[in-house]
Amino acid sequence: MCGIVGYVGKKISIQDSLIKNLKTLEYRGYDSAGVAYVCDNKVEIIKKSGKISNLEEAIDDNLTSNMGIAHTRWATHGDATDINSHPHKVGCVTIVHNGIIENYLELKDLLIKKGYNFLSSTDTEVACAYLDYLKKDIDNNLEVIKEFQKGIKGSYALGIIFDDELDTLYATKCDSPLIIGLSKHENLIASDVSAIVNFTKKYVIVNNLEIIKLTKDKVEFYNSDLEIINKKIEEVNWSIEAHDKCGYEHYMLKEIHEEAEVLRNTLNDYIDVNAFLKNMPDFSKYKKIHIVACGSAMHAGLVGKYIIESDSEIEVNVEVASEYRYKKVFYDKDTLVILISQSGETADTIASLRKAKEDGIDTLGIVNVVSSTIAREVDTVLYIKAGVEVAVATTKAYLLQVAMLMLINLKLKYDKKLINKDELSSSLDMFKKAPNYLQELLNNEDTYFKLASILYQDEDIFFIGRGIDYAICMEGSLKLKEISYIHSEAYQAGELKHGTISLISNNTKVIAVMTDKDVYLKTISNIKEVKARGAYVILITIDSIKEELEFADEVIVVKDINKYLTPMLAIIPLQLISYKVAYLRNCDIDKPKNLAKSVTVE
Ligand code: G6P
Repeated sequence: MCGIVGYVGKKISIQDSLIKNLKTLEYRGYDSAGVAYVCDNKVEIIKKSGKISNLEEAIDDNLTSNMGIAHTRWATHGDATDINSHPHKVGCVTIVHNGIIENYLELKDLLIKKGYNFLSSTDTEVACAYLDYLKKDIDNNLEVIKEFQKGIKGSYALGIIFDDELDTLYATKCDSPLIIGLSKHENLIASDVSAIVNFTKKYVIVNNLEIIKLTKDKVEFYNSDLEIINKKIEEVNWSIEAHDKCGYEHYMLKEIHEEAEVLRNTLNDYIDVNAFLKNMPDFSKYKKIHIVACGSAMHAGLVGKYIIESDSEIEVNVEVASEYRYKKVFYDKDTLVILISQSGETADTIASLRKAKEDGIDTLGIVNVVSSTIAREVDTVLYIKAGVEVAVATTKAYLLQVAMLMLINLKLKYDKKLINKDELSSSLDMFKKAPNYLQELLNNEDTYFKLASILYQDEDIFFIGRGIDYAICMEGSLKLKEISYIHSEAYQAGELKHGTISLISNNTKVIAVMTDKDVYLKTISNIKEVKARGAYVILITIDSIKEELEFADEVIVVKDINKYLTPMLAIIPLQLISYKVAYLRNCDIDKPKNLAKSVTVE
């Protein structure tokens, strides 16, 4: 989604102060980019649709400035054209914006009546004109922003330049992420910390309706009553190298190869030396769980549902956050709402969290990005330690979300006295070995890459599985479609014959996941049904299923360590196959078209 950066400080090249930072936000997903900078006491703007490289080419390497704002736009209102790109300048105000102004049509009508003309179809140009309109009657720029907040409905993170203060950058936010980077004689604004680490590790998280005034040597934070406030300074706990591909051709491949290590790091935070769980809340009071998330995080939740329901005997509803936030929800004081989010900034997941909190329901977050909105607002946060994930298609964070749900399940089981301490310890001992098993699979990538060559020319690929295998299929199918643009569907194997089987014909590719020992015989029947209609079947199964598997065209066998580890192992071949299929199709693997890493608007 849209990314904003801003710099005020020394007179240095725009490439260094803004474009370099903007590039670190590419992973969020975007379709145009632009920059506004102060030069000879004027604000100049350059913007281009397409990649940041288009913008880069349009900017002279020798161009310098001491202040500017820049933006990557993910189109919501209006096409991805130069004119719709940010920054927008109206009258004496220039802005970059992340979010959606919901009452922009109403404001546009008012502003047209006041004589404003609009060049773009964006809500942002309206917000900009509204600031300019307010500025006509108010001299103090902090007051202008305060009035602006009163008139705006919707979400925003804004970087603002006023023509009458060309050495001062202003910023404010409501429901869209914004941080301030603090350095010596240089200060910055950004959508997330990746865009400041080129300059500094020190940053401050901005809360809703706060207003920030930045100059080269000073940053002032104001609340919405314009009183100066003190803010906590945070420190980034990773280095710029996290944004390096470290020799891999794509971030996605690098991140898949980090899975064993990040799992080890995460387990160290939750399993102590005596093979007992630490840093986990007491779950004994809960009788029901709602897991709410989007995309792959929701798929991780589905895996968790199957395990928790069968193992801890608790009902688990998994809901897509964009639905949950608006529907009638049946929960009570015995319900725990678990929000899963890599970024901790997904707008629908945040809204679902706030809904549960307003209703007085306990909330727990499984989050990767430290101090993100969800991490800060949930009652309890369990961090996964995926580190920076740059590829839009999540891999290592998904794996850790599944791992965390497995640990939660074990703690639940223990708190509900369904297992004793020794049983818990022996399961956790197994868990500690999981990174080694993952590593074995990762070392085997060529085997999975070979399968990609069978699949990459197809336009439809089906995934089938039962129970927890269906949940794994959902993620496998999403991974494949989002980066390779092959149409793919995941189906419960038993449901196939109620419609989708009509799409199976000679050489249709079907990937079957069969790791659930309780239902594998049923899955075999379903695989035979698609085989009978000509399908080419790639089967992923476990070594403890001793059945003859000659009905499948290709077979991948993963070790059956225990039911908690199998979903984590089974996803690795699927991630690697998807990667290689997209590679063979020449796709933009790390930045698939139309997708965003962090979906900060609903
Ligand atoms: C986007 C990403 C997905 C991610 C989903 C939820 O769609 O492309 O990879 O699963 O958002 O993001 P979150 O940050 O909340 O986990």
